[in-house]
Amino acid sequence: MLNILFIGDIVGGGGRDAVNALARSIMDEHGCTFCIANGENMAGGNGFTAKCLKELANSGVNVFTGGDHTWDQKEFPAEIDVLDNVLRPANVSSFQPGRGYGIFSTADGIEVGVVSLLGRTFMNTHANCPYEAAERIVAELKERTPYVIVDFHAEATSDKIAMGRMLDGKASAVLGTHTHVPTADEQIFPGGTAFQCDVGMVGARESVLGREIDSIVGRYRTGMPTRFPVVNEGIRLNATMVSLDEQGHATAIQRIVRDFN
Ligand SMILES: [Fe+2]
Ligand SMILES: [Fe+2]
Repeated sequence: MLNILFIGDIVGGGGRDAVNALARSIMDEHGCTFCIANGENMAGGNGFTAKCLKELANSGVNVFTGGDHTWDQKEFPAEIDVLDNVLRPANVSSFQPGRGYGIFSTADGIEVGVVSLLGRTFMNTHANCPYEAAERIVAELKERTPYVIVDFHAEATSDKIAMGRMLDGKASAVLGTHTHVPTADEQIFPGGTAFQCDVGMVGARESVLGREIDSIVGRYRTGMPTRFPVVNEGIRLNATMVSLDEQGHATAIQRIVRDFN
C-alpha cells in the first residue's frame, strides 16, 4: 500500500511556513511516503522562484505542480530547467521551458508518476487540450509504474469531473486545484481512481482565496484596478490523502484540514 499526501495551492510566505511546519507531521500521522503540492502561488501569491522552492527543500514535499500562475515571476523561466522537483502544466506549448510530468521516487524507492495539467474552461490560458495530453501522458507513465497522480488545475467542476471520469481506471488519482476552495466530493470512481474537484489551498482563513478581503471586495464592488495583497497569518492547510494498492487503485481518499496559526 502507498499513501500519498496532496496539498492544495500554497499561497505566499504564510503558506510556505505552514507547509514547512505541518507537511511532515501530517505525512507521518497518515503513513504517507510521498507528497505532492501545488505551488503556483508560493512566491508572494504569484508563481514560483528557485529561492521559495529552496525554502521548502526539507518540507517533505517531493513534487510541486504548476498552474496558470507558473510564469508570474520573471526569473522563473530561466530557473526551472535545473530544478528536478517542479512541474509546469504539461498541455502547453513545447517551446515553454520545464516539463509537465515525470516519474519521481519515494524514500523507499517506489516510483510515482505525476502529471500537471491546466484547464481551459472559463480560464484565460494558452493551454492545449488537457484531455488529449492526459490520455497520452497517463498511458506513457503507466508503462513505468502503476501509481499515477494527476493534478488538474482548472476552474469548472464539470471540466474536472469529466477529466476524472475519462481517467477512471487509468490514473490512481485525479485531484483538482486552482479554485483554492476544497470541495466535499472526494470519492473513488468504479474503476479505482480517487477523485476530488478541488483540494483547496494553504492560505489565510480570513481572506478571499488567500488575498486581503477588502481589496477583492473593492474590486468586485467598483470594478477599479487595485493590488491584491496576500494575507500571511491565520493560515489553514487543505490537503487530501489517497491510499493506493499494489495495482495503483485507490482504496481510500480523505480530506485533511489543519490550522497553522
Ligand atoms: Fe492558485
Ligand atoms: Fe490557478
